[in-house]
Amino acid sequence: MIENKNIWITGASSGIGSELALQLAATGNTVVVSARSTDKLTELESKAQALSGRIVPLAFDVTQDESTDEVRATLTGMVDSLDILIICAGRCEYIDNVDLDVNLFRRVYDVNLFGAVNSTVVALPLLKKAEVNSTAKPQIVAIASLSAVTGLPRAEAYGSSKAAMSYLFNTLRLDLEKKIDVTVVNPGFVATEMTSQNDFPMPFLMHPPEAASRIIKGVAKRKLTVNFPWRLWLSLKIPSLIPSVWYRWIGPRLVRSA
Ligand SMILES: NC(=O)c1ccc[n+]([C@@H]2O[C@H](COP(=O)([O-])OP(=O)(O)OC[C@H]3O[C@@H](n4cnc5c(N)ncnc54)[C@H](OP(=O)(O)O)[C@@H]3O)[C@@H](O)[C@H]2O)c1
Repeated sequence: MIENKNIWITGASSGIGSELALQLAATGNTVVVSARSTDKLTELESKAQALSGRIVPLAFDVTQDESTDEVRATLTGMVDSLDILIICAGRCEYIDNVDLDVNLFRRVYDVNLFGAVNSTVVALPLLKKAEVNSTAKPQIVAIASLSAVTGLPRAEAYGSSKAAMSYLFNTLRLDLEKKIDVTVVNPGFVATEMTSQNDFPMPFLMHPPEAASRIIKGVAKRKLTVNFPWRLWLSLKIPSLIPSVWYRWIGPRLVRSA
C-alpha cells in the first residue's frame, strides 16, 4: 500500500488519472492533481473530502513549456517535497488513410512526449528534496502504453510517441543513478474518454478502477515495468519477437480496408 506520501499526478481530470487520485487519497496520501479542466479537478477535490487523504488541484497544461517555473513555484507552496510523480496526461489521435499529417504528430507528441519532459522538469527539484529528507527513494511513474510493444495499424503517431516516452524514462532511470526509481506502465485498453473514440474491437477491455489498482500495486513494488492485462501483453510481445510473423501474418489482418 502507498500511504502518507506527497504525489503529483498529471492528466488527473478523468479516466485512469482521476481514479489513481481517488484511490491514492483513500490511503492517506496528499495528491496534487493537474490537467487543463480545472472544474473537473475541483470536483475531484470535493470527492476526496470523505477520504483520509487530500486532493489538491493545480492547473497545468503540460504543453506550455514557458509555464514550468510558475507551476513549480505553486507546487512548492502546496507540498515541501514530492515522493511520487505520475505522468498520466495523454492524447491519442489515429492516422487515417496513411495521411501523415505533421500537425497531428505535433499535437500528440506535445502532450505525450514533450509534456512528459515538462512535467519531469517541474518535479525533479521536489523529488530530489524527498531523496534527501526521506528513507524511501522518490519515484517517477510514466504511463506509456502496450501500443509501444509492436507496430499497430493507425498508431503511427500515438504508438511512436509512447515508444519514445518509454525510451525516455528507461534512459532517465540510468542517468538518475539509482537516486530516483522509475516505473514505466503499459496499460492495454481501458474504458475512458480516450478509448470512447475507438470503433474497433478492444480485447480484454478493463475499467479504470481495476487499471488504477494494478498500477498502484506495481508502483508500491517499485517494478521497473508494469504491463497489463497480461493476456494482451503476451499476445503482442511474443509475436513481436518474431517480426516476420507479426508483420507478414498477424499485423496485416488488423488493417482496416478503406
Ligand atoms: N485508456 C486506455 O486504453 C489507455 C491505454 C494505454 C495507455 N493509456 C494512457 O493513459 C493515460 C490516461 O488516459 P485515459 O485513458 O485516462 O484518458 P482520458 O480520460 O482521456 O485522460 C487523459 C488526461 O490527460 C489530460 N490531458 C490531455 N491533454 C493535456 C494537456 N495538454 N495538459 C494537461 N493534461 C492533459 C486530460 O485532461 P484535460 O483534458 O482536462 O487537460 C485527462 O485528464 C494517457 O497517457 C493514455 O495515453 C490509456
